[in-house]
Amino acid sequence: MACIATVRGLEVDSHVPVLLEQVLRGLAVRADGFYVDATFGRGGHSRAILGQLGAGGRLMALDRDPDAVAEGRRLEAADGRFSIEQERFGQLRRIVESQGVKGAVDGIVFDLGVSSPQLDSAQRGFSFQSDGPLDMRMDPAASPSAAEWLNSAPEREIAQVLRRFGDEPDAGRIARAIGARRARRPLATTGDLVAVVGETVHRPPTGRHPATRVFQAIRIFINRELDELDAGLAQALEVLKIGGRLCVISFHSLEDRIAKRFMRDRSRIDPALASLPVVPASAQPTMRLVGGAAHAGETEVAANARARSAVLRVAEKIA
Ligand SMILES: C[S@@+](CC[C@H](N)C(=O)[O-])C[C@H]1O[C@@H](n2cnc3c(N)ncnc32)[C@H](O)[C@@H]1O
Repeated sequence: MACIATVRGLEVDSHVPVLLEQVLRGLAVRADGFYVDATFGRGGHSRAILGQLGAGGRLMALDRDPDAVAEGRRLEAADGRFSIEQERFGQLRRIVESQGVKGAVDGIVFDLGVSSPQLDSAQRGFSFQSDGPLDMRMDPAASPSAAEWLNSAPEREIAQVLRRFGDEPDAGRIARAIGARRARRPLATTGDLVAVVGETVHRPPTGRHPATRVFQAIRIFINRELDELDAGLAQALEVLKIGGRLCVISFHSLEDRIAKRFMRDRSRIDPALASLPVVPASAQPTMRLVGGAAHAGETEVAANARARSAVLRVAEKIA
């Protein structure tokens, strides 16, 4: 995962890509193809794709995080086949159209969630393990930050978010405790939020930090991650060419459910219309599943803990 490599005690801004071989197989990279990496991160998947492209191939990447894009700019300067935009993947269609390749994309990969540098930098506020500003925005220019939202949203809304995106059993109690805490002094740091959760949740130890679900839920909400995924997948299907491949790596069940249903629903005849004597073209499948859900093997999980929860799904556009 999510491991920052340490070289002689210095932290190196790095991210180990998960399921790399499986993604390359899933994309079935053609040397002269046009590919999109919708989640550049630190470019692990991008570099591997470039490694399989010839001189005529191209790779376009997106990331909403300016630090990721700064890394991508270095790759752009070094490799003329690569370009990157700071954009949400909910804008995929517009960006692809601007490159003049709508309907001509050979493959798209989404490696969802946060990168190791995002998690490991206390300043970004994603982690309950290090104290920093309570931020959690992938794009720090977007608003609100986690602190702005937690200090102003109705307690009922906070409880709903914790339940919906974190499946947090103590959502109501934690939301009330946040309300009581901010009435005394606004929450400002990840440590403030960890303390509120720690004082409120008294579950038997499970091996998971009690703030895990709370941080996941707030991060998903603040970055509108599931709405982005819905939009990104729909637009990916539009911009792919027939025969183009879609690869999605998810890290929790909310994401995986969206990817799984998206691919399943498009790879079968619409059940509501399947019994008609003549099935209309609009109800015919537009995708075909390529294999089932793929998981990391023991060796990868041993080397990269983040790979444990990774699930890859692949589908091909057929119509
Ligand atoms: C798991 S990391 C990708 C790591 C990358 N595959 C690598 O090998 O380095 C996910 C990246 O996607 C970005 N991201 C997440 N949601 C996004 C969205 N809706 N639009 C654009 N980028 C997004 C994050 O900022 C993060 O850099």
